[in-house]
Amino acid sequence: MKRFVSGIGTMVILLVGAVAICAAAANRGPADMQLFGGNQGKVPFSHARHQDRLGDCNVCHSVFPQTHASIEKMKAAGSLKPKQVMNTQCIKCHRQEKKAGNPHGPLTCRTCHVK
Ligand code: HEC
Ligand code: HEC
Ligand code: HEC
Repeated sequence: MKRFVSGIGTMVILLVGAVAICAAAANRGPADMQLFGGNQGKVPFSHARHQDRLGDCNVCHSVFPQTHASIEKMKAAGSLKPKQVMNTQCIKCHRQEKKAGNPHGPLTCRTCHVK
């Protein structure tokens, strides 16, 4: 009986753990955002659309963490240069997709930045 009860206890602990992990995994952040774009104006960004199409969060989040305003915080701390994400992630990928003949995102200043 004792063993049975502690077995249930273990199962409850495992279940609570699994639910906590799922809740953490479910934080995809906002579906749409406006990124800071300096004097060129803000950059509307469909986070959800990129998540669905690219599948892998780390395509972007290996460079900046999944926390609010992480890009601007890293720029302020000097661990990212201004326009680094823009050039080495956004534009780089859009250019590669275009070259491959695939649907791709915008490549010119005025199609990404809006005033
Ligand atoms: C194409 C690039 C890209 C991909 C892929 C991506 N993200 Fe993001 N994510 C961003 C950008 C850009 C931000 C905004 C960072 C900032 O505000 O400086 C962000 C921010 C976030 C934030 C913080 C939101 C906030 O403001 O509180 C979370 C959480 C997040 N992402 C989760 C995810 C998860 C989970 C995945 C994978 C399912 C994912 N992201 C895939 C680009 C991406
Ligand atoms: C694919 C979308 C995209 C295109 C195309 C694009 N940008 Fe950006 N730009 C961004 C994003 C996202 C940021 C914020 C992240 C960063 O600084 O890397 C940004 C940031 C900037 C900043 C602010 C940097 C700072 O921290 O002060 C300037 C200035 C800028 N872009 C100029 C330009 C110019 C000029 C062009 C055209 C030659 C251009 N951008 C094309 C997406 C884009
Ligand atoms: C690894 C590849 C990849 C990266 C990184 C990436 N994109 Fe895209 N993006 C795409 C593809 C592919 C499309 C076109 C397919 C689609 O529309 O679903 C697209 C479409 C877009 C569009 C037009 C469609 C829409 O959502 O309105 C915008 C704007 C855009 N991207 C902005 C950005 C910005 C800003 C960044 C950097 C923070 C970025 N992208 C990073 C692959 C990428």
